[in-house]
Amino acid sequence: MMDGAVPHPVLADGFLADVVEGLSRPRKTLPSKYFYDARGSALFDAICDLEEYYPTRTETALLARRAAGIAAFAGPDAALVELGSGSSVKVRLLLDALDRPALYVPVDISREHLLAAAARLAGDYPALTVVPVAADYVQGFALPCSLVPERTLAFFPGSTIGNFTPDEAAAFLARLGRRLGRGSRLIIGVDLKKRRDILEAAYDDAQGVTAAFNLNLLARINRELGGTFELDGFRHRAFYDEALGRIEMHLESVRPQTATAGGHRFQFERGETIHTEISCKYTVSEFQNLAAGAGWRALEAWTDDAQLFSIHALIFAG
Ligand code: AVI
Repeated sequence: MMDGAVPHPVLADGFLADVVEGLSRPRKTLPSKYFYDARGSALFDAICDLEEYYPTRTETALLARRAAGIAAFAGPDAALVELGSGSSVKVRLLLDALDRPALYVPVDISREHLLAAAARLAGDYPALTVVPVAADYVQGFALPCSLVPERTLAFFPGSTIGNFTPDEAAAFLARLGRRLGRGSRLIIGVDLKKRRDILEAAYDDAQGVTAAFNLNLLARINRELGGTFELDGFRHRAFYDEALGRIEMHLESVRPQTATAGGHRFQFERGETIHTEISCKYTVSEFQNLAAGAGWRALEAWTDDAQLFSIHALIFAG
């Protein structure tokens, strides 16, 4: 860079372009993938520990309870491919139960976090070969060529699939199946439809952690793109749209205002919202039908006693 030159935000790997595109629409949106900078990831970890946010603890307990069934489904010498592996915590329940797991391939976009977690895990499982892949698993990623479809088990926990629309989810699952091959297996966590009050509390907790997580998107625009969003000018909104079977999160402008980012100017009416996330909920059969349309045959679906969360065992039939 030349002396005195100011780094231009347009270099921020598509973030500015996505912000400008989303905030220029008649109904403003921001992509939820931008929640997860260092601050957002820490806030998400805090969400997972909240009393109101049942998915994490329910899925973890269900994985522990069904670990033997999952191990039988995977078979011996399996290669485990985890999508969005983060801190690789839940996968330990599977690794402890699997019969001689041969390979663990954590795939995550956050390179430093991925490498640190992979090193910790390799230390704890000395017999396991760990091959971390730093990639956006939504866009497609390279896999070790030694993978044999019939012995490959993909693991996609957390109901992250719910952050796609049903059409996007089906397209993603079809792509994943084609990449892993016919006969590959998938263990996927899917949040269930349930009472509105339980769902809305999970996405609008009493301590305001989810509100801080949502507002961090604007703080991130300010930090990384030189934005001028006033954080007290927006409030967190989360509601369950029963017809669409999904939680929607928005940031609502509490007054008429303008904000800029990277030299672009955006105007907000009072009450106007920026749509920041969807979190789709499914019944067991709705999700099995969606997966079947993407080539994945349902072998098993486990739920907890309170019917809060489901874990599906699927096999790719092509
Ligand atoms: C990552 N994902 C599955 C979370 C969810 O429940 O949709 C993200 C989240 N948003 C607000 N709270 C949690």
